[in-house]
Amino acid sequence: RAARGRPRGQVAARLLADVPRDAANRLPVGIGELDRVLGGGLVAGSVILLGGEPGTGKSTLLLQAAAALAGGHDVVYVSAEESASQVRLRAERLGVVEAQLRVAAATGLPDVLGLVEEHDPDVLILDSVQTVHDPERDSSAGSVVQVRECAAALARMSKARNVATVLVGHVTKEGSLAGPRTLEHLVDAVLLMEGDRAHALRLLRAVKNRFGAAGEVGCFEMTGAGLDEVSDASRLFLDDLDSSPPGVCRTVLLEGPRPVAVEIQALAVPSSLASPRRQTNGLDGSRVAVLAAVLQRRTDVAIANRDLFASVVGGIRVEEPAGDLALTLAVASSVADRPLPPRLVAIGEVGLGGEVRAVPQLERRLAEARRVGLSAAVVPRRWDGPDHGLHLHRVGSVTEAVAVLESTPGTSAPREHLDTGLAAAVG
Ligand code: TYD
Ligand code: MG
Repeated sequence: RAARGRPRGQVAARLLADVPRDAANRLPVGIGELDRVLGGGLVAGSVILLGGEPGTGKSTLLLQAAAALAGGHDVVYVSAEESASQVRLRAERLGVVEAQLRVAAATGLPDVLGLVEEHDPDVLILDSVQTVHDPERDSSAGSVVQVRECAAALARMSKARNVATVLVGHVTKEGSLAGPRTLEHLVDAVLLMEGDRAHALRLLRAVKNRFGAAGEVGCFEMTGAGLDEVSDASRLFLDDLDSSPPGVCRTVLLEGPRPVAVEIQALAVPSSLASPRRQTNGLDGSRVAVLAAVLQRRTDVAIANRDLFASVVGGIRVEEPAGDLALTLAVASSVADRPLPPRLVAIGEVGLGGEVRAVPQLERRLAEARRVGLSAAVVPRRWDGPDHGLHLHRVGSVTEAVAVLESTPGTSAPREHLDTGLAAAVG
């Protein structure tokens, strides 16, 4: 090949250890939870998509971020959904009106690109990509073609001018990122804002990040004056550890790399229906049905003729099998109308045969349980790591797990109260 006289390429291959760790030019935002999810801050020349259902707080987070960045960088915030004075109104609420950032209301792609030309910012925020449109395309704003073409043009601009660009993308309730999903390959990072209106909790999840770890999760609380960082998430979900009525069991989830202690509540009441109700909030309904069937089959907890309500306190979702054991115990506790031992946590996956299986990172979860003040733990039998000062009940099956209930006396608590409260919470 060399004989044909082809010029040699210009690319050098270095020893891996000589490759610098992160050559990216980072702009730390100054909001710790956001910077962590980003992998240390915005990267110059990169494009970030911030997705989430309407009302989760995307505009709020970005206005706070824009204001924080404006201290040391040039920031242009373009709203394609609201007027500049509406943005100002939100800024007043957030207490950031004096921040040195530029705000514009624009919906035409040429106008947005023109603003970048004119002000040459370090950071461009566009809220939202679904409401801008390129007049050179026939299709209407928000159509897949428009969203993709506008995002592509903004990404080219971002690379060419080394601007960190953040695009908001609305996600529908069904979870389809209709427009935005088609943008995932086009952008460098996709962050999703999660949370429901009934709760203050907001989780910011990195589902893709070329410049950081996907799976990283930031935790915020929506207040009357914007989003507050929550560094100790467990405290948000556990209030009174000493109140453990029947049907309550705690567990420790992993949200990204972080352990978070949560409370699961179950209520099982005799049903008058041919097929009893199974209603859940924050838990996977089919998982709850499976665990109820396991209890029915493997233990003497009679659940088949009962309506079952189960929920997680505080607006967080349990997606992990590690929550199985706590849910199972919460249900068993409600059926028996006996509380679990005080300050107990249960962590383990439950199999169809009723076996209790190991879960990832049990040690960190137990350490978190101890840190928040829990004192006993039901864990899979095969766990042989440290107890972190917790009294451990090692169990191999749900039958053994349910036996933990026998160590507590029955309750004479005024049940009516609790029942109505919980039914209202999940109904
Ligand atoms: P918003 O940022 O507009 O959500 P998105 O851009 O994702 O649609 O905020 C949504 C909700 O947050 C809105 O219902 C009002 C509430 N909110 C607060 O509770 N506190 C605040 O300080 C702000 C600005 C909004
Ligand atoms: Mg908004």
